Parts: sequence; C-alpha cells; structure tokens
Amino acid sequence: MARIYSVCNQKGGVGKTTTAVNIAAFLAANAGRTLLIDLDPQGNATSAAGIPKDQVDVSIYEVLADNVPAASIVKETRIPGLSVLPSNTSLAGAEVELVSEIAREFKLREALREVRELYDYIIIDTPPSLSLLTINALAATDEVLIPIQCEYFALEGLSQLLKTIDLVRINLHPELKIGGIIFTMYDSRLILNNEVLEEVKEHFPNLVFENTIPRNVRLSEAPSHGMPILFYDPTSTGSLAYEKLTAELVSRHKNEEAFEQGSVNDDRAEYPEQNREFKEEAQCQQVQNADLAGALEL
Ligand SMILES: Nc1ncnc2c1ncn2[C@@H]1O[C@H](COP(=O)(O)OP(=O)(O)OP(=O)(O)O)[C@@H](O)[C@H]1O
Ligand SMILES: [Mg+2]
Repeated sequence: MARIYSVCNQKGGVGKTTTAVNIAAFLAANAGRTLLIDLDPQGNATSAAGIPKDQVDVSIYEVLADNVPAASIVKETRIPGLSVLPSNTSLAGAEVELVSEIAREFKLREALREVRELYDYIIIDTPPSLSLLTINALAATDEVLIPIQCEYFALEGLSQLLKTIDLVRINLHPELKIGGIIFTMYDSRLILNNEVLEEVKEHFPNLVFENTIPRNVRLSEAPSHGMPILFYDPTSTGSLAYEKLTAELVSRHKNEEAFEQGSVNDDRAEYPEQNREFKEEAQCQQVQNADLAGALEL
C-alpha cells in the first residue's frame, strides 16, 4: 500500500512542484510504482511530468467534485513507473463547490482509498495557500514534506504552516507526520542562506533533510520540456541532489518502519521524537466534529 507524501508550503515559488515532480520521478526509477497527484489548479506538476495541460479533459477536479473514480483518470507518463493524476484550471472551482459538502476535508482521502493499493508511493503537489485543497492533501497524507527557501521570511511562513499541520492533527488526522524540511535553491556561499539553515536546524533538529537542493538552471529548464530532471539532464547538480534527497527519504521511511516494528535502528531512534510528541499532543487534544475549515477561517 502506497506511502502518501504531500509537498506543502503556502508560500509561492519555493520549489514545491519542482520537488514533487523530481522526487516522484526518482521514486519511480529507483524505489517503486509512483503516482504524482497535481492538486494545484496551476497544473504545473502535470505539465512538468510531460502531460500537456490542454490534453487534460478530466482532472482531479472531477474526482473531488463529481466523485469520478481516481483510477479512471490516471495518466501514464513516458517515465516507466510514474503515473499522474492531472489537474487543470477547473480545479479552482472545487474550492468553492467543496465548501458546502459534507466531510469536505476528506474528499481526497476517500478518493485515494482504492488507488492506494496500486502504488508504492503517492506524492501530492499542493497549491501555494492553506486552502481547502491543501487541507484535503494533509488529511490524505502520511507525511508532509516542506520545501523552504533560505530567505528571511522563511521561518515566519514555516510557523504558520506548522500551526495548520497541528490543527489538522488535532481535528482530522492524528497520525499525520512531518516527513521533513527540504532546503531548496540553497547556495552555501550566501551568508543569509546558511543563517536560515542553521536557525531552522536549531528549531527542528531532527526534521531537516541532510541533502539540500542547490539553485540549478537545469532544474528550471526541465519543466518546459515536460521532463523531470532525471531525464532532462541526469548528470546536473540539480538531478544528483534530488536523487540523493529521494534516497534519504526512502531510507528514513525504511528506518521508521523498522523502528515501528520494534527492530530499532540507531539512526532512526531520535528522528521520530518530534513527531511522537506532536502525535501524543494531538491525540489528547482531539476535538470531536470540529470544523477545521471554520477554525482556519477558510
Ligand atoms: N533548485 C532550483 N534551482 C533553480 N530554479 C528552481 C529550483 N527550484 C525551483 N526553481 C524554479 O523556481 C520557480 C518556482 O519553483 P516551483 O514552481 O517548483 O515552486 P512552487 O512552490 O511549486 O510554486 P507555486 O507556489 O507557484 O506552486 C520555477 O520557475 C522553478 O523552475
Ligand atoms: Mg507549484
């Protein structure tokens, strides 16, 4: 059964889509069958994975709004093992239409119930907002991956996102974990980049991925060719960085499984601490029938 990751940050342009598409491609190449879900009306992950937006007549919108089975709209990419649940601009309408639906926060989770069996990994790319679409992603997710750019306001945005993740834990999904924080467009020569990295590490010592993603022009060119970096330029620094990051993600997951099954691995032993604390807190605070979207003023 697939492990489901959402790539989230309400801040625009921090590298969510680049991260979602390239991790998905490396997972498909090196780890197992992968489904990339584009939950952003911009449809950037769809086109970056090689599915032209004008060829998407039925999208994730129909899955959420009209209960069309997710499996029926999955598109295969040219990349072996990588499938896409595509998006287009009609998804923007889902925000409005879902508001009056019962269990509106669980639409995606319900929709993924059947397809989850068909994949080893599911990666969800989310829009740059803490909207009902993002809440749907979080409610359907095992682990959240948070890409951040090393700039001055990164920490401010991060605390807002963590608050939302906590609200989702408390109200909807106590098992939700933070998979990790990924530094994107990182330049080790810049003092500010290093300062932000150190500050985030200090606050969240076990959550920051060791592998950072450098700024690399090949990563920004690849989407216009409809190719993940692995196919566009596999030897670029951007490609090597995403390959290592994906390997780190897989090994964290394997270690966590081993940890949960009782065969404790020293590397993993300290990592879940932050998540365990969050989970315990979420479980004891759990509020029945709370209206999360209301709480978030969506
Ligand atoms: N490591 C990188 N090096 C160079 N350019 C990058 C890198 N990561 C992302 N970019 C470029 O930065 C821009 C924003 O990236 P991306 O679309 O992945 O961000 P996003 O968080 O998904 O944006 P949005 O919030 O609009 O969905 C894109 O033009 C992308 O090609
Ligand atoms: Mg995006």
